[in-house]
Amino acid sequence: MTVTDALARPLRDLRISVTDRCNFRCVYCMPREVFGRDYEFLERAELLTFEEIERLARIFVGDHGVSKIRLTGGEPLVRREVERLVEMLARIPGLGDLAMTTNGSALARKARALGDAGLRRITVSLDSLDNEVFAAVNDVGFPVERVLAGIEAAAAAGLGPIKINMVVKRGVNEDSVVSMARYFRGSGHIVRFIEYMDVGHSNGWRMDEVVPAAEIVAMIGAEMPLEPVAPNYPGEVVERWRYGDGIGEIGVIASVTRPFCGGCTRARLSAEGKLFTCLFAVAGHDLRALLRSGASDAEISAAIGGIWRMREDRYSELRTAATAGLPKVEMSYIGG
Ligand code: GTP
Ligand code: 5AD
Ligand code: SF4
Ligand code: SF4
Repeated sequence: MTVTDALARPLRDLRISVTDRCNFRCVYCMPREVFGRDYEFLERAELLTFEEIERLARIFVGDHGVSKIRLTGGEPLVRREVERLVEMLARIPGLGDLAMTTNGSALARKARALGDAGLRRITVSLDSLDNEVFAAVNDVGFPVERVLAGIEAAAAAGLGPIKINMVVKRGVNEDSVVSMARYFRGSGHIVRFIEYMDVGHSNGWRMDEVVPAAEIVAMIGAEMPLEPVAPNYPGEVVERWRYGDGIGEIGVIASVTRPFCGGCTRARLSAEGKLFTCLFAVAGHDLRALLRSGASDAEISAAIGGIWRMREDRYSELRTAATAGLPKVEMSYIGG
């Protein structure tokens, strides 16, 4: 069964945020001035329970063609017993892939339990190998070594090959690009360099802070020659490049300079049960109200199908005009 949107795009991936909280304060995501002591995060009762998440996930997979689920946050590992949710989701028939994007801070401790629970793959965010630069980005003084230990623990738990996400912000960590590529070359893990995006409204995004993917590839290629790898499918998020000598590959995610909305098959569910059909949407559809009003699976399924069929989002291709000035949802709320 499949459902397609107004631009003929099917629904394939569901990204589920399990919390809007995080133990980091990355400058491009949760700047401390905004996410300070007084910031009002969601209350526990507002969060979907694991049972509610699983019920929705079964409907997305069973009725609407979703084959891949990714758990995100905030930081998903700060949600208590998230491995219990992983175990529940891993049992859903027809689900081909179950992944998580994490900052890696708790991974050394949790990787084994996540693997045992049925998680298949993990993506770890890491913005520099230099402690000073990394601390300036995460803004809580978190040391690089502990994230690296998390990556190794995840690989040992069978969650590899690990993908490592590095958001590149001009003047902040662009000097760490080549050393990241060098360090992970030949490790079997894949670093993906992400253009800094204008998500949310609290990071004060400016175009001149974006390091274009082409520039990133040129910087790395100057030291370690790269050649392009054909996309796995049209509209793939990541552009792949492999080293000329065959020792591994990197990826770039050029959401600003080369948007990929044409092939966007992703839906996002917030921790409080709102369904967003675009990372840059200004509002979500309240599935929690439906769940808690006693709606049947058939009614929920019909609502989801209706939302997707109406969808015409392609923010990154339009940028500016349509949503300029509107209060877009925060990255830490919707999970990237
Ligand atoms: P796999 O292919 O499952 O490994 O993952 P992925 O490529 O979807 O990767 P991941 O979830 O790690 O996404 C990497 C980053 O790409 C995200 O954190 C976002 O910054 C960006 N990204 C992912 N999906 C979208 C999207 O739909 N739109 C935009 N504009 N950016 C996206
Ligand atoms: N631009 C690009 N990527 C971002 N992420 C968070 N904020 C931004 C932004 N403004 C990334 C994180 C993580 C993923 C969840 O999203 O680094 O890898
Ligand atoms: Fe936390 Fe990830 Fe946002 Fe950094 S990017 S503040 S680790 S949610
Ligand atoms: Fe999909 Fe919206 Fe990202 Fe375009 S901007 S790729 S429609 S999530």
